[in-house]
Amino acid sequence: MTDYIEFYNKQRMPIVGLGLWQSDDPNELDQALEKALDQGYRHFDTATLYKNEEGLGRGLKKYMDAGKVTREELFIVTKLPWTGMHPDRVRRFAELSLKKLQVNYIDLYLVHWPLAIKYVSDEEVAPMENGKFLIDKESPPLESVWKAMEELVDAGLVKSIGISNFTPSQIERIMKIARIPPTNHQIEVQAYFQNREVREASTRNKITVCAYGPLGSPGRKDYNFNGFSYDIPNLFEDPLVVRLSEKYGKTPAQVLLRFLTQLNIAVIPKSTNAGRLSQNINILDFALTPSEVKEFEKLDKGEAGRSFPSLLGMQDHPECPF
Ligand code: A2P
Repeated sequence: MTDYIEFYNKQRMPIVGLGLWQSDDPNELDQALEKALDQGYRHFDTATLYKNEEGLGRGLKKYMDAGKVTREELFIVTKLPWTGMHPDRVRRFAELSLKKLQVNYIDLYLVHWPLAIKYVSDEEVAPMENGKFLIDKESPPLESVWKAMEELVDAGLVKSIGISNFTPSQIERIMKIARIPPTNHQIEVQAYFQNREVREASTRNKITVCAYGPLGSPGRKDYNFNGFSYDIPNLFEDPLVVRLSEKYGKTPAQVLLRFLTQLNIAVIPKSTNAGRLSQNINILDFALTPSEVKEFEKLDKGEAGRSFPSLLGMQDHPECPF
């Protein structure tokens, strides 16, 4: 078991990264970053949509300027927003991310969603009308966006390109036309929603998997939108998780993350708390037995366990994945 996953192009991504979705308070972000870097985090996951690339860039630069880490030791992931789903806008959005992050390359650039929202301005990354996203039903084919992603690699702006929230058939379509195939697929994976079909379609195509919401995202701020709400799973109290946590003297979160990493899935738990940041990266000094992994696999509730649904009109786009 290594502490990296390796892409087909030999690039290595630390198997535990820091997720930065909803880390929008600059002070909190600043402090969390410093603690995370001190504890050995080197993989940071942001997105244009998270609106914290500047804060991440500032924090990383400060640490690099202090001589505590080099750019080569860091693994920075960011994502093309759904307003950028047009071949003419891909490079522009990548360049904006580079500028905000204050770096001259991105380690991994992902297509955040296979669907498109109308472009209004560079800053408005989720324009809405009447409580719904301004879905762009006439957006160019995904394949044409992928061709523009490949050009980012050619230009040296990004080391690897990948996808997020794609379906098996969307993966196959990209594989058919790709000169530079995706290296990584970021999807929801957690004990109650193990997303098997999409994981299998990814690994069949030599695309590694990174799990968002690996703890079930218990701290999610927005789970009630204009009366539409959804359940947030409580994985920490699951009897299997509790039992294994007692057996190994680890916290429930550590057991949940260990399960995923033993399947060679990278994880990007979010935390701003020093103790929890430390727990989440210290998961490689124990291992679940094969039969415990099997027990974990039985916790999967399939589609019923999905905890990040499509919402606010996303389903109106023909490429909406779920
Ligand atoms: P906090 O930032 O206060 O630590 P996910 O990565 O699945 O989206 O989950 C992130 C949420 O889980 C955050 O609210 C975070 O809260 C909480 N969390 C992160 N790590 C742990 C942990 N080790 N134990 C308990 N809660 C955690």
